[in-house]
Amino acid sequence: MRSDKFSRSLMRENQLTSDDLILPVFVLDGIKKNEPVQSMPGVSRLSLDLLLKKIHEAQELKINAVTLFPVIEDQYKSENAHEAFRDDGLVQNTISAIKKEFPDMGVITDVALDPYTSHGQDGLIDKNGYVLNDETVDVLVKQALSHAEAGADVVAPSDMMDGRVGAIREALESHDKKNIKILSYTAKYASSFYGPFREAVGSKNNLGNASKDSYQMDPANSDEAVHEALLDVNEGADILMVKPAGLYLDIIYKIKKEFNKPTFAYQVSGEYSMLKAAAQNNWLGEKATVIESLLSIKRAGADAILSYFAVDVAKWLRDDSH
Ligand code: PBG
Repeated sequence: MRSDKFSRSLMRENQLTSDDLILPVFVLDGIKKNEPVQSMPGVSRLSLDLLLKKIHEAQELKINAVTLFPVIEDQYKSENAHEAFRDDGLVQNTISAIKKEFPDMGVITDVALDPYTSHGQDGLIDKNGYVLNDETVDVLVKQALSHAEAGADVVAPSDMMDGRVGAIREALESHDKKNIKILSYTAKYASSFYGPFREAVGSKNNLGNASKDSYQMDPANSDEAVHEALLDVNEGADILMVKPAGLYLDIIYKIKKEFNKPTFAYQVSGEYSMLKAAAQNNWLGEKATVIESLLSIKRAGADAILSYFAVDVAKWLRDDSH
């Protein structure tokens, strides 16, 4: 069966298409700003005008959705993250600008406080630096609502607090936002592969040597991921997400099998940087390894994948089909 191209094609079980891809983007204040992220060659922080061009390119390549991460200037960061839910904050304005120009592009937003806190944690902290669950959930609800009001299609809590999916779902229902979807970062591990992202959004220095171990999951655990997913499903999550992706294929498989829900995976910044660095050194072929990495995530059970390679991959797939 493997001897001929036709029979290999006929028995192929999984196919990667642009329908599988979600593009994560970084937005900063200003105009005509393009700041390359040093640890993620090929990825830049863009001001809105340039971001809209990028989104136009993504739309032309049939990418269905983008997920938005803001770079917040230090002067707007605070202990209590009040910038996170301002009606005309950077994210809120960006959402409405994208939806105005590209109504069909799905806009997914990150619900977490780390770009907005002076200490770089995803939530509010007590005097010992411990992240406070319930106090944080109150702010996350305001943040999610402000995204929904601005026109977001999907809100994606990435903070790993308990009870936030239920609280956000209730707030959306009572504010006439019933069709706004919740993409829950269900199994988000306390991974060392987020380093380049923290450089990109500028939370790295704020966080310093502190860790997120008191709320993100221990990489040693897998049953716990099922437990987390059960909580989120019962609270009304529409989509479950596993993050990182490539090192956690067993978790993707398990969650998809257990719940049969839409399941997404996030190929995170460190996964991108590893592949990119090896490709730049000609140690690995970029196109083949990137496609293999995404196909493996899909084979494990992911219905869609957030990847910084999304635009490149969509181009490769388009060119191959001609
Ligand atoms: C934080 C957040 C992180 C990422 C997405 N949202 C980093 C973290 O938890 O510290 C990481 C994404 C990536 O590494 O590409 N809310």
